[in-house]
Amino acid sequence: MPLLLGLLLVLQAFPIDQNLPKDNPFESLNQTLDPPDDISNLLQNACYDCHSYQTQYPWYTRIQPIGWWIQHHVREGREGLNFSTFSQWNAVIQADILRHCAKMLKNEKMPLQSYLRMHPEAQLDARQQTRLLEWLNKQAEFLESGAVNLAAPHQQILPSDTCDNKNASLRCCFVQIPEDLNSVLVIAPPDEPGQRIKITGHFYARDGKTPYANVLIYAYQTDTSGRYTQRGDETGLLRWHGRLHAWARTDKTGRYEIQTIRPAAYPGRKNAAHIHMVVWEPGSGAEPYYIQDFLFADDPLLSAKEQQDVRNNTGRSPVLTMKADGQGLSVGRRDIILK
Ligand code: HEC
Repeated sequence: MPLLLGLLLVLQAFPIDQNLPKDNPFESLNQTLDPPDDISNLLQNACYDCHSYQTQYPWYTRIQPIGWWIQHHVREGREGLNFSTFSQWNAVIQADILRHCAKMLKNEKMPLQSYLRMHPEAQLDARQQTRLLEWLNKQAEFLESGAVNLAAPHQQILPSDTCDNKNASLRCCFVQIPEDLNSVLVIAPPDEPGQRIKITGHFYARDGKTPYANVLIYAYQTDTSGRYTQRGDETGLLRWHGRLHAWARTDKTGRYEIQTIRPAAYPGRKNAAHIHMVVWEPGSGAEPYYIQDFLFADDPLLSAKEQQDVRNNTGRSPVLTMKADGQGLSVGRRDIILK
């Protein structure tokens, strides 16, 4: 007996390292997929101790050999699946990981039984399990649909550097793209002050005729003060682009539509008022890029060259000729051929 006690005492001289590796929040599953709060909480409660850099070590991990045994699980768990570095995978792999999680959950292999004994709060009830399974499968389907990943199948979708940088990669424009995309960009909500406008058009491939479906679009603009004002809780590149932004994906016919307010020129009033648009072509393997800004034909700040674009107007000019639709809305059209 004293011998055993002595041995246990000696073991205590070798504690586990409970320091957490440095965590880049921009690489996390939460940042990458932006799950609803309840899903995020379920994963956190049931999985994060072993599958993230946010492990919470209970007091008994200070007692050896229990701590060693638990550390082993954490290491193995993180090796197989780490929600803290989720963005380093491209979407095909991300989808695969989510499917794998769904399978583990369905077969009640995860969370580990030994863990549930000490963490009854991690046990999912039937309703929670169904909800999580639904989300995992739906999200996997979205990733597999090619909307995101096909843009760069050979690379990471997301840069591992932070997007909180004015000159960040244009991929950062798509980090926060919502799951339920359609072809309409509602840049300004209905209660935003300003003249409401609608812009419609189609994207065409290089031949100028073939409708370009599934192009990912991101657009942002100034408000009536000419500034990219923030709501206050923006993260990443949106801290520079502000609250008036939106995403869309062109439909089967290549169509897109923008619902917004007329932007104002920057306070210095040197440049004409404009809407910026970044596009990402599915399957091209190319990076996202800016297309020519949307401008307005009646804007006195247009440069001579920009004014020329008005005269060339064939519905393809970036300089929009707006018309009142009789219902308080000003409408314009622009078709876009990707080069
Ligand atoms: C107590 C620690 C622990 C918890 C909590 C836990 N896991 Fe695991 N998980 C592991 C370990 C250890 C492995 C690797 C060994 C194995 O497959 O049994 C693993 C493996 C996995 C794998 C397979 C990864 C691979 O190698 O392909 C998936 C998927 C998974 N877990 C999902 C989950 C999900 C989802 C949850 C939460 C609902 C969860 N786990 C909770 C420890 C844990």
